[in-house]
Amino acid sequence: MDTFAFIIHPIDPKRDVSRKFPFLGRILSEKQIDFFSTFFPPVYISEIEGIASQATGKEIKGWFIACPYTPRRMTELSERTVYRKIIQTGRLAEKLGAQILGLGAFTSVVGDAGVTIAKALDVPVTTGDSYTVAVAVDAIRQAACVMDIPLLSSTAAVVGATGAIGQVCAELLADDVERLYLIGRRQDALEELRDRLKVHARAELIVSTSMTVLADAQLILTVTSSIHDVIRPEHLQPGSVVCDVARPRDVSAMVAAARDDILVIDGGMVDVPGAVDFHFNFGFPPGKAYACMAETIALALEGRFEDYTLGKHLTRERVEEIAAIAKKHGFRLSGFRSFERDVTPQHIETVRRNAKEARNLRMAHT
Ligand SMILES: NC(=O)c1ccc[n+]([C@@H]2O[C@H](COP(=O)([O-])OP(=O)(O)OC[C@H]3O[C@@H](n4cnc5c(N)ncnc54)[C@H](OP(=O)(O)O)[C@@H]3O)[C@@H](O)[C@H]2O)c1
Repeated sequence: MDTFAFIIHPIDPKRDVSRKFPFLGRILSEKQIDFFSTFFPPVYISEIEGIASQATGKEIKGWFIACPYTPRRMTELSERTVYRKIIQTGRLAEKLGAQILGLGAFTSVVGDAGVTIAKALDVPVTTGDSYTVAVAVDAIRQAACVMDIPLLSSTAAVVGATGAIGQVCAELLADDVERLYLIGRRQDALEELRDRLKVHARAELIVSTSMTVLADAQLILTVTSSIHDVIRPEHLQPGSVVCDVARPRDVSAMVAAARDDILVIDGGMVDVPGAVDFHFNFGFPPGKAYACMAETIALALEGRFEDYTLGKHLTRERVEEIAAIAKKHGFRLSGFRSFERDVTPQHIETVRRNAKEARNLRMAHT
């Protein structure tokens, strides 16, 4: 039977450590977990079974393995130290017999996005970023539809637009919308991106290093590698959709608490084909996975045991290819989720109603 492994790591330290080690999660503070994670070895988490292709019936199995570092630790420690720990975790995948290895969340962000890690390992490696792009853009298109936002005449924004995932998301959305804000921290890199994209873009492209322009956008796709939230309630206009692909999240929990006129959805959740059992709760309902996990699984189902998405320069061709491979084997965009909860039709209706009221109120005040 063909096999894969996927590296996860604690994102919300107390919550995630409790999922594997309830006792340690209870007694250690977040700071202590951060500190001890430096010395912890890679951890075997679980065997994944029950995945079967809808196209070929092929069954595969896999493993979750964990790199103990938190996102904060990965940004504080030297790149070499972080690579070393991820490579050590990759060796565990090799010992288990994995034929392809996926890098989850920050293990795919660090340094050159998998290139050094893949060179050091015998097992082929993928970051999962190509399929993450495909699913995120698909999710925002579908969310626009349910919120009655006409895509072709809409204003959208990509936050973290200069990043590996952000760049291709911007490239794809630039075909769909009327105006597109490219938001990031570095003006020069944003201008370079704008100049590259504008050759083919349908949309007017505007660069900005300030979140205040978000007030102008109806559709926002956010995918920074910030370890703090970057989007707060005051940045957003009533009725807008925010697709948050970043882990840790970019959207402040205050948005959920203070703005019932905005639809925030988690980017990158898909249904996995077959009666999958992950034997580990990573916060999703049964049968669903992150798009980056799904890329690794889809490649194993396809028998493509090769380095697939690596480095910071993704291509539209790879995004389209992996989307087709995943579709063929039965991966589907899942219903929407928001802050760990399912988004129901009632919730969408409430957001639409509240947005309309908020807009009317604003008009009355102007
Ligand atoms: N949901 C999923 O399935 C999935 C899959 C893979 C990755 N991810 C997540 O996606 C995110 C991005 O990954 P990536 O590989 O694209 O990372 P990346 O290549 O490092 O790009 C990150 C982008 O965020 C920007 N940024 C970083 N800190 C910021 C801050 N404080 N304020 C504003 N912008 C900031 C960076 O700007 P500069 O160019 O100025 O550095 C860059 O544009 C990560 O959170 C990762 O965990 C999610």
